[in-house]
Amino acid sequence: MSTSSILLISSDESLSSDVGHALDEIDGARVNRQAMNIGQMNGAAVGLAADHDIVIFATDPSNAAELSAIEVLTDRRAGDTVYLALTDADLPLSKARALTRAGVDDVLPYPSSGNEIAEQVGQWIARKRAAIEERYAGASTGGKLIAVQQARGGIGATTIAVNLADMLLNRRGTFRKEASNRVVVVDLDLQFGTVGDFLDVDEQEGLLQLAAENFLPDTNWVEQSLVRLPSGLAVLAAPQRFAPLDALQPAQVESLIATLKTMFDYVVVDLPRALVGWIEPVLVETDRLYIITDMTVPSVRAARRLMDFVLADNTALPVEMIVNREKKPMMLREHHREAAKALDTTFNHWIADDPKAARMAIDYGKPLSDVAARSDLAKGISALARATLAQLPKDAAVVAG
Ligand SMILES: Nc1ncnc2c1ncn2[C@@H]1O[C@H](COP(=O)(O)OP(=O)(O)O)[C@@H](O)[C@H]1O
Ligand SMILES: [Mg+2]
Repeated sequence: MSTSSILLISSDESLSSDVGHALDEIDGARVNRQAMNIGQMNGAAVGLAADHDIVIFATDPSNAAELSAIEVLTDRRAGDTVYLALTDADLPLSKARALTRAGVDDVLPYPSSGNEIAEQVGQWIARKRAAIEERYAGASTGGKLIAVQQARGGIGATTIAVNLADMLLNRRGTFRKEASNRVVVVDLDLQFGTVGDFLDVDEQEGLLQLAAENFLPDTNWVEQSLVRLPSGLAVLAAPQRFAPLDALQPAQVESLIATLKTMFDYVVVDLPRALVGWIEPVLVETDRLYIITDMTVPSVRAARRLMDFVLADNTALPVEMIVNREKKPMMLREHHREAAKALDTTFNHWIADDPKAARMAIDYGKPLSDVAARSDLAKGISALARATLAQLPKDAAVVAG
């Protein structure tokens, strides 16, 4: 099923109800009506608009304040949002041009029947979908899913998830501009997720919308909901408002993961600490689970419990322990050996304690590769990224015709 979100902005009640009802009839459309004037939108409303596929608003282009409000609105265009203006049918061409210059994609005459408007909107939705499908056609035959889980809170799971994702881009070329891989980092820690903070990305409403409404996410929804950093890294951050963890349906998560795997070579998921029902569809699709721990007894015990939990239903799940905040010792000490035994594993990855680099990354809201590329912390995660790339090579892309 395909879904499209439409935002209808108008303080005119009869317009809003007339057009709104017609839009409701569009297959798979979710219509959100905002009773306000385009000239009165504050920053939050502008941000909200950019989270929609289509934004429709009534405007009088002779009003300079409205024109500049439209410019602010379209400037925030995140990805592919389409902006449509409803205006007087007798609009002179010069005024229509002013709207186009302000960033509006199309000018629709009003009044006209709601159905005519719905038809035009439907065409924009179809055009947009086709463009997105083309963009991802043959991109990937099956991305690799890497899930990151913490043995205890504050262990460094998000630090590792975010920077692992960044390094999986495997950037090359002059100034390391070209990413060799398509990578997305997804914050499934819906309630306390901090991926957005680590990357200075605003909270996003997408996952909240998913939790609040019962639809299955598709490529179009994912593309609309994520943010892309200049490096090319795609980010699906957690919402700002509180989303009950169990509001997400397992089928929605299954569809989200399946869609992400068709769009990206590597999907890095920051898992919540709670073991909710929809973890299962993630684990089923997981190519590698990294459990982040340290060598203290409580963490090792928690890691053991986690491992037992995830392996109970997924015996073949490839789980690997990552020791954070400790450099690999020359020789394993007694407590290391005991931990290895308790976890029935060998520790292949150690990431040094490096508060300075960790702090820099947080303060700047940037990946380590940008702010502390030569730090011990960056080197540790980089080694993890290289091992991941070697062990989970991306599927060969189908070359588009
Ligand atoms: N290897 C490390 N050395 C020093 N500080 C670290 C390291 N890894 C993470 N941190 C810091 O620990 C804190 C918790 O990290 P975070 O990634 O949010 O953990 P989690 O997601 O497991 O709760 C953050 O302040 C982070 O900068
Ligand atoms: Mg975290």
